[in-house]
Amino acid sequence: LKLAILISGRGSNMEYILKSVRKNNIPIEPTVVISNNPNAKGLAIARKLGLSTEIVESNGLKGGNWEYDSKIVGILKKYKVTPQNGLICLAGFMRIISPEFIRQYKGRIMNIHPAILPSFPGLHSQRQAFEYGVKYSGCTVHFVDEGMDTGPIILQSVIKIEDNDTEDTITKKILRQEHKIYPEAVKLFANGKIKITGRKTTIS
Ligand code: GRF
Repeated sequence: LKLAILISGRGSNMEYILKSVRKNNIPIEPTVVISNNPNAKGLAIARKLGLSTEIVESNGLKGGNWEYDSKIVGILKKYKVTPQNGLICLAGFMRIISPEFIRQYKGRIMNIHPAILPSFPGLHSQRQAFEYGVKYSGCTVHFVDEGMDTGPIILQSVIKIEDNDTEDTITKKILRQEHKIYPEAVKLFANGKIKITGRKTTIS
């Protein structure tokens, strides 16, 4: 199996995944980190960890666009991350993926979302949760389908929101959980433990 990670920024989830793959001998080979943003901080971290990096700038192409995504898929193929052996982790990748890309890599693209889906999809989920006044929030690792944060859920982790929490403290608490469950989901996938049936997953 081969792993590619798509980022746009800080890359902390990427870093936790890469370190966990090494430390725990997860049977998947990290091959390339791709960013749409040339200034993504995560690119330097990836290089430091010995990964190849590639930048595909958006140049005004909107999300969900195959013209853009075909360049990403071209890079995946170049690194032999295929629809047969690949896992693609979106880790703070701030673009919508096109249906063509999703169909090609069906069941092989994962995303992390900083809320307990289906609550608070889309952007600024931590703020949405804070402003809504929920007492618990968390994060979700899910497969990517053609909807917005709607694909089959793999793992979720919950945090409690206390009266003195702020958007910032909630964000930090959630991020700590993200760093646990995303590497765990990659491990489950690499070990062939995740089965998708319709919109549900089961883990063996
Ligand atoms: C995370 O909160 C993730 O849930 C969201 O974007 C953020 C990315 O952070 N999709 P990082 O780049 O992994 O540090």
